[in-house]
Amino acid sequence: MCGIIGYIGKDKCIPKIIHGLEALEYRGYDSAGISYILNNKVKTIKSEGKIANLKKLVTFDENAYLGIGHTRWATHGKANKTNAHPHTVGKFTIVHNGIIENYSEIKEKLIKEGYKFKSETDTEVACALFDYLHKNEKDILKVLKKATSILRGSYAFGIICSDDPNSLYTIRNTSPLIIATDKTGNFIASDVPAILKFTNKYILLDDLEIAKLEKDNITIYDKNLQKVKKTINTFSQSFESATKNGYEHFMLKEIYEQDEVYNNTINYYFDGTIESLENSFKYLNEFEKFDIVACGSAYHTGLVGKYLLENYANIPVNVEVASEYRYKKCFYDTKTLVILVSQSGETADTLAALRKAKEDGIKTLAIVNVVGSSIAREADYVIYIKAGCEIAVATTKAYLAQVAIFSLITTYSSYKNKQIKNDELKSLLEEIKSLANKIKETINNYKTYFSIADKIYKNKQIFFIGRGIDYAISMEASLKLKEISYINSVAYQAGELKHGTISLIEKNTPVIAIATDKNLIEKTISNIKEVKARGANVILVSNTDFKDKFYDEFIKTINVHPILESIITIIPLQLLAYQVAKNNECNIDKPRNLAKSVTVE
Ligand code: G6P
Repeated sequence: MCGIIGYIGKDKCIPKIIHGLEALEYRGYDSAGISYILNNKVKTIKSEGKIANLKKLVTFDENAYLGIGHTRWATHGKANKTNAHPHTVGKFTIVHNGIIENYSEIKEKLIKEGYKFKSETDTEVACALFDYLHKNEKDILKVLKKATSILRGSYAFGIICSDDPNSLYTIRNTSPLIIATDKTGNFIASDVPAILKFTNKYILLDDLEIAKLEKDNITIYDKNLQKVKKTINTFSQSFESATKNGYEHFMLKEIYEQDEVYNNTINYYFDGTIESLENSFKYLNEFEKFDIVACGSAYHTGLVGKYLLENYANIPVNVEVASEYRYKKCFYDTKTLVILVSQSGETADTLAALRKAKEDGIKTLAIVNVVGSSIAREADYVIYIKAGCEIAVATTKAYLAQVAIFSLITTYSSYKNKQIKNDELKSLLEEIKSLANKIKETINNYKTYFSIADKIYKNKQIFFIGRGIDYAISMEASLKLKEISYINSVAYQAGELKHGTISLIEKNTPVIAIATDKNLIEKTISNIKEVKARGANVILVSNTDFKDKFYDEFIKTINVHPILESIITIIPLQLLAYQVAKNNECNIDKPRNLAKSVTVE
């Protein structure tokens, strides 16, 4: 989703801004632009498509020391040069991440005041509003404060005013923004990778705070324009963690990191003993039921969590997509814990769901990767997964780490709710501690998955089926495949396919059947036979050996405790999706139209 970078300092700004934009590419975008001050005048260069196009147009060596850059993921208006940011109206030039909800009414009023608009964007309207307010108020801080009382929606702005060519202003509400400093000057950025080459020190801006950055000074104000002191954070991962490190794609690198990510995540909460789980998660005992709310793959981890917590810990769980949950009638009460799952911690709908629960007095827990993100900061309790920087748009290691957390809390709650015998608990705790080896072994078996991918990559549609927790895994496997390969793929509960969708099965249609839940395997086999009888090419993923060969291809997964099974099962399916996309020559790390961090609703 849109990325912002800005710099003011002693160094020439264009190389830094272009580097920042390239580091933000992973968020997903379809046009890019840059504005800078040259001889006290604003100069803007924009282009449709990739940053490579923009680079051809800029002169890196310009004597410009203040600038803002932007990657745009189209919301209001097509992905073209006119709609690309930065936008200039009168004395203001801005970049924006977010959506201004009341932009139409503001636009109408400004048109009556004589403003003319070139683009279809809400951003140009916000820019015109700043300019309009500035006509009667020369203090830019006061202009921005006044604008926040008019603008509705989410925003992070990078702002230059030609009246003050030695300052870079920024303000945020809901959309993410950080401020950073290196030896040469100061930055604003949407997230840490954008500035990591220059510095690992950063400040998180809170909602409605305004910052004024000068060459050698940063001043931050609260919404009443009182100066505030902010904590300086240190990003502990290396710059290498945000590079491919020899792998062909970030996605592949991130899949290969999963044994390490698993260990880093669980070791943070668990030392092999049940007491460590008690220390980490005892607050869960205050609650009788959970609402898990998330988007995309994080929602799919919630589905896995539901099966685990209901089946093994006897806790009722409701899982909802955040964009629905935020607007629906919720039947939660003080015994409900609302669990928000989010890699980025900035997903607008998930954040809104969190705020809704909080407003209703319901306690919230965030399962988040990005430290200090909005969701992490606002939730009552936080469980950080330790996935490190995830760059590929299609999540893999963060998904696995989130599932690992659900496995951990299920283990703890199943013990607490007396749902597990002592012997089983003992061996489960040992298995949790040593699972990384099995994750590694599963990844190392990639040739099997790749050879199956080589046989199916030309198909136009691929189905996934499973029952219970295997259905939850199918959902993620199907999303992974379609989002990076553009092959139509749907996941179905195995028993439901015959109620309509089976009419799409023809000779050789691939159906990937997941059957790891021992209690449901027999039932799933019957459903597999139904599609096989109609000519499907069945790829079975299971931890069990079968006497009959009722499938065409077999991916045998390692047998582990059912609470841990889904951590293993997803790996072959991630690698299969990867290879299918690779064979189709797709842009694996940056699939078309998608964004890594979805900061608009
Ligand atoms: C986007 C990403 C998905 C991700 C979803 C939720 O759609 O492409 O990979 O699962 O957002 O993101 P979050 O950061 O909240 O986990």
